[in-house]
Amino acid sequence: MTQRLILTGDPAHDDALIRQAAAIIRAGGLVAFPTETVYGLGADAFNPVAVRRIFEAKRRPAWDPLIVHVVSVEQMRQVARELPPKAEGLIQRFMPGPLTLILPRAERVSNLITAGRDTVAVRMPAHPVAQALIRYSETPIAAPSANRFGRPSPTSADHVLHDLEGEIDAVLDGGETPVGVESTIVDLTTTPPTLLRPGGVPLEALEEVLGQLRLFSELVPEGQPLPSPGTSPRHYAPQVPVLLCAPEPAVLYGAVRDALALYGLVGVMTPTGWNLPEDGRVIRFEWGAWGDWEGLAQRLFEGLRWLEAQQVHAIVCPLPPPEGLGRALRDRLERAAHSER
Ligand code: TXA
Ligand code: MG
Repeated sequence: MTQRLILTGDPAHDDALIRQAAAIIRAGGLVAFPTETVYGLGADAFNPVAVRRIFEAKRRPAWDPLIVHVVSVEQMRQVARELPPKAEGLIQRFMPGPLTLILPRAERVSNLITAGRDTVAVRMPAHPVAQALIRYSETPIAAPSANRFGRPSPTSADHVLHDLEGEIDAVLDGGETPVGVESTIVDLTTTPPTLLRPGGVPLEALEEVLGQLRLFSELVPEGQPLPSPGTSPRHYAPQVPVLLCAPEPAVLYGAVRDALALYGLVGVMTPTGWNLPEDGRVIRFEWGAWGDWEGLAQRLFEGLRWLEAQQVHAIVCPLPPPEGLGRALRDRLERAAHSER
């Protein structure tokens, strides 16, 4: 049984529920919780039995390492052997927030979390519920996104329960997550640092602090071993084909018409005000204003999951340009569209 612990935003009410969730974590259980990016599936990072249960619940392969969530720099030092000089500026500017750092790992962190690597991924979430949960648990919390492996990340407790009901002990329901795409991952163990996954902190902002970064996408030709396994091409995917098109109303219109001919029932991630063919077999998800990358990011996974639930046979979506959060949107959509089905 999975308990749903519904939060109201009133600390007087929520505190007891978050403490209850922390007790579950301390006892070796699994709790899904909201962060500002997406929901995480948490376990005590220093309890290998609990950490192993994360992999089982998600059906996640053991080669895919986990992010450790902390509330303080002090706690970060419990899991990282050292904080490289470049970490300081990033911590000051972006933490807490949607940034994950790859750091040299401390002895104490199990091979399960790091998938045998000498590095560990560390993140300090900004969401007050995530912070309270880690604080009350009195331990760093290992947590991947709280979805079945390979599925779109969850941005609400409903998404979590859809994928993991019965597999986990509890979900702290804190409503929708504000950022909607996962954290940006930067590897500080390379020189220059490497952007492994674009996410909630835009590349442009990182460059202001770090100068030049290597972009992971430029590093690895198809078919080579991957430095960040979750960057595998097919990921974040709904169960129907995702068809991408250039971001112009006329192109989207044509792409939807073509998809109708091929697939019959078609879902569309529709920017506000864009025209689509008048056809009962077109199902629109009203995505938001084109150009508002933050707003579109917040609703991306919601839209993919909602259209999938309408049982469309394909999803058509315009591809944002590589600027600001548009870069994270592109990355997730390209992975969702990658067909190895
Ligand atoms: O916003 C987020 O980052 C969310 C919330 C819950 O914090 N978490 C999340 O976790 O997206 P997950 O497990 O779905 O994605 C983490 C990614 C994976 O692609 C994993 O391979 C990579 O981080 N990763 C973890 N440890 C790593 C390491 N030591 N070196 C390289 N990549 C690592
Ligand atoms: Mg994930």
